[in-house]
Amino acid sequence: MIGDQKTILSGVQPSGNLTIGNYLGAIKNFSAFPAEYKPFYCVVDLHAITVRQVPAELRRRTYETLALYIASGLDPEKNVLFVQSHVPAHAELGWILDCYTMFGELSRMTQFKDKSAKHADNINAGLFTYPVLMAADILLYQADLVPIGADQKQHLELTRNIADRFNQVYGETFTVPEPYIAATGMKIMSLQEPTLKMSKSDPNPNAVVRILDPRDEILRKFKRAVTDSGAEVRFSPDKPGVSNLMTIYSCFSGKTFAEIEAEFAGKGYGDFKTAVGEVTADALAPVQAEFARLMNDKAYLENVMKSGAEQAGYYARKTLSKVRRKIGFVN
Ligand code: TRP
Repeated sequence: MIGDQKTILSGVQPSGNLTIGNYLGAIKNFSAFPAEYKPFYCVVDLHAITVRQVPAELRRRTYETLALYIASGLDPEKNVLFVQSHVPAHAELGWILDCYTMFGELSRMTQFKDKSAKHADNINAGLFTYPVLMAADILLYQADLVPIGADQKQHLELTRNIADRFNQVYGETFTVPEPYIAATGMKIMSLQEPTLKMSKSDPNPNAVVRILDPRDEILRKFKRAVTDSGAEVRFSPDKPGVSNLMTIYSCFSGKTFAEIEAEFAGKGYGDFKTAVGEVTADALAPVQAEFARLMNDKAYLENVMKSGAEQAGYYARKTLSKVRRKIGFVN
């Protein structure tokens, strides 16, 4: 809450090519919030460097992520779109909040444990304090609502604890945020191992459909998607493959599970998989076209970044100066 205005903040990492899981679980929903919320969406490049990045790729993906935000329907006139490292207050509040976060709390973060296992040669301090920087992102804008994927719930819980703790010691300083996890599309699973989340970094290309995949590739990946025993298109826990495809179909077509079951009654998995591929490719086509147009207009994207950083910086500095005063820093 800034003044009497409710705020939303979310962030997407500019690492890896974004998947339909990122699109359906996060970006696509961003444009659907009521107008009473002031929306802030950032590209979290500071978070991205917790794992090793190729500099030129990081730079390109930062542009791409911003372009995808816009191509997915976020109007820069109505949403504050910015790059995290362009607003130094994130790193600064991140450090301050490090001193209000316990080692034990961070040790319990499942994402840290997963990433440490995956990057055993680079378990750096940033990977460990990653969730505190995320808390800083959120608390700087006094966010009421934070749209996230289900895998980020634990980080949001930690953010709430940090905010509460700080407020207890220094009096009302931060809005304690609520997570917003979309009911459908919150978790799109791998097309090859449908009990695992679809991951940007999955080494098996057939497991992942990316927002920018060409049409023929999308169709091919869905044709190869793993289904389950039986032949019925039915949403059920014992049919993780078919259920995942139904979730994707439902998200892109707007049809309910019951409607989808009726549509494919008596038809085989083959027809169904073709239909899921087509509806996905059709839905992504306009996003891809707009993305391509934007990536050819770097000057425009840079203007959006600049204006976004100015607006975000204004709000961030307000919160930061309040924090500095409360903890006893000299101005
Ligand atoms: N950790 C989030 C993810 O990996 C990205 C993120 C960084 C974020 N800062 C945030 C999400 C603030 C929401 C709010 O998905």
